[in-house]
Amino acid sequence: MSNLSVGAAHGKIILIGEHAVVYNKPAIAIPFTEVGAKAIIQEGGNDESGCRLNCKYFCGPFENAPEPLSGITACVHETLSYLQVEKPNITIRIESSIPSGRGLGSSAAIAYAVVKGLFRYYGHQANEDEILRLAQVAEIFAHGNPSGIDVVAVGSEGPIRFQKGKGAVPLPIGKTLHLVIADTGRFGDTRTAVESIRTLYEQDRLTTQRSLDLIEDFTYHCEQAMAKGDVKLVGCCLNLAQEELSALGVSDEGIDRLVDVARDSGALGAKLTGGGRGGCILALAADEQDALQLSISLKEAGATETYISRIGMSQHHYFEKAENERASES
Ligand code: PMV
Repeated sequence: MSNLSVGAAHGKIILIGEHAVVYNKPAIAIPFTEVGAKAIIQEGGNDESGCRLNCKYFCGPFENAPEPLSGITACVHETLSYLQVEKPNITIRIESSIPSGRGLGSSAAIAYAVVKGLFRYYGHQANEDEILRLAQVAEIFAHGNPSGIDVVAVGSEGPIRFQKGKGAVPLPIGKTLHLVIADTGRFGDTRTAVESIRTLYEQDRLTTQRSLDLIEDFTYHCEQAMAKGDVKLVGCCLNLAQEELSALGVSDEGIDRLVDVARDSGALGAKLTGGGRGGCILALAADEQDALQLSISLKEAGATETYISRIGMSQHHYFEKAENERASES
């Protein structure tokens, strides 16, 4: 056991396959290392439960944490029980630069960072499968029926294909992808969006299944195009997936507007990313210069924030940064 430890995770972007992944289809996710979450575990809880939480939304003993934080508190309890800690005396401080409710992996990254931090604090050798299982406890509170892609993606070191029950496979990239992420400025409600597709599935199984099957096809084509470095074809797959997500009812006016602006401004493809109905869109640019131009156009069109992410270059720097911070804090 140490006096202080840090767990870290980055954000994630679902390139293609969201929602279909809930129905056992493959999806492609990439680390979004421009933002991240950090959990700092320190000795000293001094409360009834022995645990104190310090974060943007709440500072105090665990037992007083508000309902929206029940996922993370459940995840901590489960982790402490797994580690056989009966009397914790700790404060967990959470810092995150990942905007919440935007489909960028905020809740998953926080859960992953907390579990990893607790493993380190109690000197438990990190086993990735256990970390994922415990972080998923928080995700179940947040989403109800999560596929598991988020917790895997926030800890991955490169692009992955994820499939429920099969786990993640690292994907090769033939040519750097320049992605622009644009925030609609509105919370996306993943739980409601997932439930709405479930209702559609029960009402009209044939049509819904067809859309999910098509998304699966586009995901496989996208994976092959990424490996070959055929950026235009990747863009085409993104556009086609967006059509099916719209047909499934998880896009909305604000998303459609940003998607149109991105395409009119030269994007090779654009779609929502994550649960939809608010949240963010992603747009694929031909190169760095186009990505900068796209980012400006999307901001002018009302995006509250934009980020540029380059996929294919080394994405290890977030891990390195967090490790360095850990070293300087202890
Ligand atoms: O958490 P979000 O909004 O990025 O959505 C995750 C992707 C979904 O396919 C919509 C849900 C899931 O559990 O896979």
